[in-house]
Amino acid sequence: MRHKISIIGAGNVGATAALMIAQRELGDVVMLDIIPDMPQGKALDMAEASPIEGFDVRIKGTNSYEEIADSDIVVITSGRPRKPGMSREDLLTQNAQIVGSVAEQVARYSPNAILIVVTNPLDIMTYHAWRVTGFPHHRVMGQAGVLDTARFRYFIASELNVSVEDVSSLVLGGHGDTMVPLPRYTSVAGIPLEELMDRETIDRLIERTRGGGGEIVGLLKTASAFYAPGAAVAQMVEAIIKDKKRIMPCSAYLSGQYGLKDIFIGVPVKLGSLGVVEIIELNLTDEELAQLHRSAEIYRSGIKLLGY
Ligand SMILES: NC(=O)c1ccc[n+]([C@@H]2O[C@H](COP(=O)([O-])OP(=O)(O)OC[C@H]3O[C@@H](n4cnc5c(N)ncnc54)[C@H](O)[C@@H]3O)[C@@H](O)[C@H]2O)c1
Repeated sequence: MRHKISIIGAGNVGATAALMIAQRELGDVVMLDIIPDMPQGKALDMAEASPIEGFDVRIKGTNSYEEIADSDIVVITSGRPRKPGMSREDLLTQNAQIVGSVAEQVARYSPNAILIVVTNPLDIMTYHAWRVTGFPHHRVMGQAGVLDTARFRYFIASELNVSVEDVSSLVLGGHGDTMVPLPRYTSVAGIPLEELMDRETIDRLIERTRGGGGEIVGLLKTASAFYAPGAAVAQMVEAIIKDKKRIMPCSAYLSGQYGLKDIFIGVPVKLGSLGVVEIIELNLTDEELAQLHRSAEIYRSGIKLLGY
């Protein structure tokens, strides 16, 4: 049986994720958007690329929720992106409405799906989608850490002039300026980062990572990042579809881990066919843990604003 992956929101991130998922042949892809004909047009265009790219999956665009019925995975990317000068939190009320209505439909048409939320403010929207769907928390997660870690890895590789393939790292915390890049858990082909870079350079790259989304918004002006976010979604979908049990930083529900409860925030998880099969608890220093808690406080107040 082929897997079915539905993407709600066929905008920049949704369409990019759809193409990357199709290129990896992870399953048939459905893209849904409220704009008439647009997802159909993008799906047809992608399908016409398949003979050239050599991928063999069905790609469908739609405006109707019946088409997402019985999906294995649903990705929510519907919502507004940031404009220059906006924080992810500025999007809160607008996107809560969109994500809430989408989550209701997902629960109705794909009650057994694993849900990956991408819409910002990410950790708050993931909590919101979890509450609205009523799904068990291991089946709901947010994409942020894979992207933030990829940015940090790319900046390190560029600075050292080495292959990105050799850089391994972890960025925890919320998907915002309070994210927590962890140089202590970063290595280049097994060599601890601290042996290759001085503290000042590491701090500069951490700051660039924290502002990584804003840097792209500043350059694009009318859109936010979508290639790397789409790739991050595809990698999470692959880990789930292939039951890889990969360890990736995702926004996951905490029930006491790291001293935090009833919140979604970025932590390392094991991802498999059941969703989040385990939350990995790192031995954080007091300072790292304090940073994670500071990040969590911001998201807790966002959740409260939504009335939870
Ligand atoms: N978590 C991350 O790492 C990350 C990275 C990049 C972007 N984002 C967020 O993802 C979201 C999408 O970004 P984008 O660049 O693709 O934006 P976009 O504007 O290109 O696409 C959003 C799409 O959602 C659609 N939409 C709006 N309301 C809808 C509804 N009720 N049902 C279905 N579709 C609906 C719009 O028509 C549009 O096509 C934004 O909130 C952005 O901030 C998150």
